[in-house]
Amino acid sequence: MTDRQSNLHDPQTARLMGREDIQQRVAELSTWRHRIPLPHGVVTPGREDCNAELRRIRLPADLTGQRVLDVGCSDGFFSFECEHRGADVLGIDDFSSTPFNAGQNGFAIAKSVLNAKAQWRNESVYNLDPNQHGHFNLILFLNTLYHLRHPLLGLEKIAKVLRPGGILLLKTYYFHDFRFRRWGFNVFKRPIMRFFECDELNDDPSNWWAPNRQCLEAMLRASGFDNLTKLGTHADRVYYRCRRAE
Ligand SMILES: C[S@@+](CC[C@H](N)C(=O)[O-])C[C@H]1O[C@@H](n2cnc3c(N)ncnc32)[C@H](O)[C@@H]1O
Repeated sequence: MTDRQSNLHDPQTARLMGREDIQQRVAELSTWRHRIPLPHGVVTPGREDCNAELRRIRLPADLTGQRVLDVGCSDGFFSFECEHRGADVLGIDDFSSTPFNAGQNGFAIAKSVLNAKAQWRNESVYNLDPNQHGHFNLILFLNTLYHLRHPLLGLEKIAKVLRPGGILLLKTYYFHDFRFRRWGFNVFKRPIMRFFECDELNDDPSNWWAPNRQCLEAMLRASGFDNLTKLGTHADRVYYRCRRAE
């Protein structure tokens, strides 16, 4: 993480912004999601262990010259990491979709403290349009699919702005039938998606859908992705890498 700090922030800015200035900026946001390392040893007080997630999504080490889109970017940890690895990055997030943090996130604060170039827009995945946003080589879609009321539409919109042959890295909450392990067979081999009308899933009214793996893979194929590779699972999350079909 010290590498990232020295690469990303302009040494002059760091000299101008002392530890206390940075702490003050960080305190402007009441709740951080991501733990982002900033100059002078300051780390944003998020609950998410983003470094562990980086290993799970297997983000390529070198993204030089790549255009990356981070959908549902939140405070921007993954956007800044992609920039650090050489990418030109756009992060989008639809604040109105989450009941938390009163329509704010920490992206702008972290960006200014890091003096980062990553661009950021308060925009929904449903508005992605190749004529407006162009095409990307790599898209991160982390922990956001199950927050969508229209997950298939979201995947289709993502496929439209991903270059043919481009890569999607996806992490989502999924519906896992634990009877599979206990009984040695899976009664839910068919694609199934559970719907949460209110806040039944983790007391969060912004959680709408939990697909099982069969359903997730079927939706990915139906949206124009191929080469689906399951990267792994961790607790109730599943991780995939797939390619935009040529
Ligand atoms: C659980 S957070 C995940 C944040 C980050 N991707 C991560 O993995 O740490 C889900 C994010 O998706 C955003 N979101 C929800 N619906 C969205 C939509 N329709 N378009 C873009 N972002 C959306 C939320 O505002 C929230 O920041």
